[in-house]
Amino acid sequence: MRVVPHLRRMRLTDANLATSSIIVFPLGVPTSVRSLTRVVMTWTAHLGARASLRGAPAAHLARGHRRTRDTPPRRRSAPPPRAETARGEHAIDVPLPTSGALAPPAWARDAVSAWPWRGGLEPCGDHPVRALSPDQVTGSIPEDLRGALFRVGPGRCRVGDAKYAHWFDGDGATFACSFEDATRDEADSSVTVRAGIKFVRTSRFAAQERAGVDKGVAVRGAWTQADERNFPFANLFRFPTNPSNTAPLVHAGELLALCEGGAPVRVDKRTLDTLDTLDNETKSVFAESAGRRLPMGFSAHAKRDSDGSLYTWGLAAPPSIGVQVARISATGEVTHVVDLPLCAGDLNGALSPERLEFALIHDCAMSEKHLVFVVPPWRLRPGFDGKLAGALAGATSFGHAFEWDDRRGAWLVVLRKNDLSVVAARETKQASAYHFCGARDEARRAPDASSETSSSETSSSETSSSDASSSETCVVLVGELRGRRDDLEARFADMYASVWAEDGYNTLREYVIDVNSGALLSDAPFATPVSRASDAERARGRVAGQLPMEFPTAAPATRGRAPRFVYTLAFSGSGGGYFDAIQKLEAGAETHATRFLPPGVFPSEVEFVPKVCAEKDEDAGYLLYLEYDSAAHASSVVVLDARDIAGAELARIHLPFHVPYTFHGTFEPE
Ligand SMILES: [Fe+2]
Repeated sequence: MRVVPHLRRMRLTDANLATSSIIVFPLGVPTSVRSLTRVVMTWTAHLGARASLRGAPAAHLARGHRRTRDTPPRRRSAPPPRAETARGEHAIDVPLPTSGALAPPAWARDAVSAWPWRGGLEPCGDHPVRALSPDQVTGSIPEDLRGALFRVGPGRCRVGDAKYAHWFDGDGATFACSFEDATRDEADSSVTVRAGIKFVRTSRFAAQERAGVDKGVAVRGAWTQADERNFPFANLFRFPTNPSNTAPLVHAGELLALCEGGAPVRVDKRTLDTLDTLDNETKSVFAESAGRRLPMGFSAHAKRDSDGSLYTWGLAAPPSIGVQVARISATGEVTHVVDLPLCAGDLNGALSPERLEFALIHDCAMSEKHLVFVVPPWRLRPGFDGKLAGALAGATSFGHAFEWDDRRGAWLVVLRKNDLSVVAARETKQASAYHFCGARDEARRAPDASSETSSSETSSSETSSSDASSSETCVVLVGELRGRRDDLEARFADMYASVWAEDGYNTLREYVIDVNSGALLSDAPFATPVSRASDAERARGRVAGQLPMEFPTAAPATRGRAPRFVYTLAFSGSGGGYFDAIQKLEAGAETHATRFLPPGVFPSEVEFVPKVCAEKDEDAGYLLYLEYDSAAHASSVVVLDARDIAGAELARIHLPFHVPYTFHGTFEPE
């Protein structure tokens, strides 16, 4: 095995500092100016230091199949449908508020009237955590289910009449629902259920509150431009702000709201009050040292290892440049920070336009020994044909300046966890993925050169370069997009106008990667992909294949090995226009248990909580998830038996408010 030494840390040299170091401002200048300085320094460093990079050549790691610039672009698919409306039993009158601060403007009311699932985008405001009455719980909460479910998502996608220009720009809110043994004073029930939701008090949220919700968007987001009519020059020299809206993480006893747009934000586990004082500068809760600064962004999918350590990544903090990966110990000390190569030039030091690009890396996969990144060719490019200059100048947002490059494949990187060294990095098949569902290390017989990839559906033509009779592989479960990334982003950019179909969702695939070469040996589906469920399958609660999916999750006990079961949100094509089912995919099975939700009811990602018992079955546990019921404009927490997801629910907590669709969650046992 050949392991590339640590890539040279890309630091500002004296020469390129000559340009950037003249931009020095005293403390106390406006954040926007400091942000501009940071952007300019970063980009100056990006241009200068990358040009002067003298890393050891590692071309042997970048021999992957590569499309040429002459390859004709893939035919663009049809744009997402936008004019349809829900019909029949899905045409539900959503009881949105008609007065008060939460009453929607006419365009939002019309959008929800057309497609009731969009009621789940509407803001709900703060609801302090409080105990619910026993009659708000139906069924029976299992005795071994004690702890708290935390969920984080955009608590609002609009401020007053102004829509955010992307779902991921919505202001973050943290939801909690806890189950505790009742005290003697609460003798009318054996369990006390508390629930609430609160916005994360980020600097951008505070700025909007100061400006008022009727003044347009006050602060620039990653995709959303601030309203220049009320705030002249609101985007000029402004850096995107952190909405803190993607995932909760409990680390060293602290509840953190995560988003790759900025640093983690501490939230009180009991009250959901924001604990940090924020000015959008890095106020890390982790112990950095002079040589080990965390990246500016903190991944919403930071990976927690079995020893309690965390792996995160993001845009490097100046004076470093590019994307970096960091390791944080269980006690919170930053122990490693390395550069992540994102193109062949990063490995061999060759000058290439790709070295000046920005990439979005939402998730990665972690096995016992490796971290695996699959970075789609969705890039922000500089130069005359790129849009970076306009984004820097405030003419367009940074997020909307990203573009899909039809001429390139995804970029695959394998890091060794113990020292974050680069094991393999190369271009691979063209693919886009937001989420992964774990990885495992396996020794496999190396295929013959003629066997190439095993999947008939793959577009890859790679072969393993290993001559050994067996090879070390990493098997990664990847949620690979069925349609086009730009069409998906167009839906995200206007959720109140989007209509979802199969091409907006994914197929869960098993990528088998030769760790020595980075070659993709196969990419077979975890279960046969199907487009929709038949009426007979709906009646049976089982589907002969995996439906279009997102948010795959498996039992924590399967970490590092092949899961038998993977739980996903699914799109069955029932006519609701959004997720309408939950699937329990079973490896090797012909049919898969599927829970079809009633018309007008829409789920959030499911959380698998293992049973506290001696049972060893992989599916001995509970599925917890939020349901939005558009007919009531209210949400519930639902508890299912993971062994029988299509059967009767075990318990339902009827919340006295609706929860805007959340992205990710975690369950903290008592
Ligand atoms: Fe995510």
